[in-house]
Amino acid sequence: MLNELELVHSDIMGCTKCELHKSRTRAVPGEGPHDARIMFVGEGPGQNEDEQGRPFVGAAGKFLTELLESIGLKRTDVFITNIVKCRPPNNRAPRKSEIEACNPYLQSQIRLINPRIVCALGTPAITTLMGDEYSASRHHGKPSTKGEVTILPMYHPAAALYDASLKETILHDFRLLKRLLENMETLNPGTPKSSEPSGRKQTLEKWV
Ligand code: URA
Ligand code: SF4
Repeated sequence: MLNELELVHSDIMGCTKCELHKSRTRAVPGEGPHDARIMFVGEGPGQNEDEQGRPFVGAAGKFLTELLESIGLKRTDVFITNIVKCRPPNNRAPRKSEIEACNPYLQSQIRLINPRIVCALGTPAITTLMGDEYSASRHHGKPSTKGEVTILPMYHPAAALYDASLKETILHDFRLLKRLLENMETLNPGTPKSSEPSGRKQTLEKWV
C-alpha cells in the first residue's frame, strides 16, 4: 500500500495538468525523508533532472550538497523538490499558469512532510511560497512564518555558483539556517517532531 506522499508522487508521475507534461522525459516529484525537518524548493527540473527523475542532480545540485555539508547536514537529511515537477523546454522559466497548476502538489508535500523549515531557492520559489512582493535579492536570509512553517528565502544555488559575492551570501544564509535549527532544538530538546504542536508554535513565535 502506498502512503499518502507516495500517492501524491505517483499522481505527479502521470500528471497532464499543464503543457510541461508533453516535453518531459520523466516528472521529478522530489526526494528525501518523508518526515524531514528541512525542505528545499527550487524552480524546476533541468536536463539532468528530467533524464534521471531526481531533483538537483546537476551542477546546482552538487553545490547544494556542498552547502548542506558546510553546516553539517547530508543531502539525505533533507527533502528536495521544485515548484514545477516537469522540465520547462530549453530551461525557460516556468509560466505562472504552470506554477499554479503544479502548486497543489507542492502544498500536499509540505502538509504531509510537515517540515519545520522550508528553504525557497530563488525568486520563483520565493514568490510561489510567500507572495509576489518577495524576491531573493530583498528577502534572502529573512525567515518568516506561514501557518506552522518557517519559510527561509535564499538565492538559487545555480545563481550563486559562479558569482563570488552571491556565494558568500548563500553560505551566510546557510549558517543562519543552521542557527534557526539549533534554536528550535534548544527550545524543544529531544522532542519527537510529530508530538509537539504546541511547543513548535512557541518556537516559531520566539524566533521569527
Ligand atoms: N535547479 C532547480 O531549480 N531544480 C532542480 O531540480 C535542478 C536545478
Ligand atoms: Fe503536472 Fe506539474 Fe508536470 Fe505540469 S509541471 S504536468 S502540473 S506535474
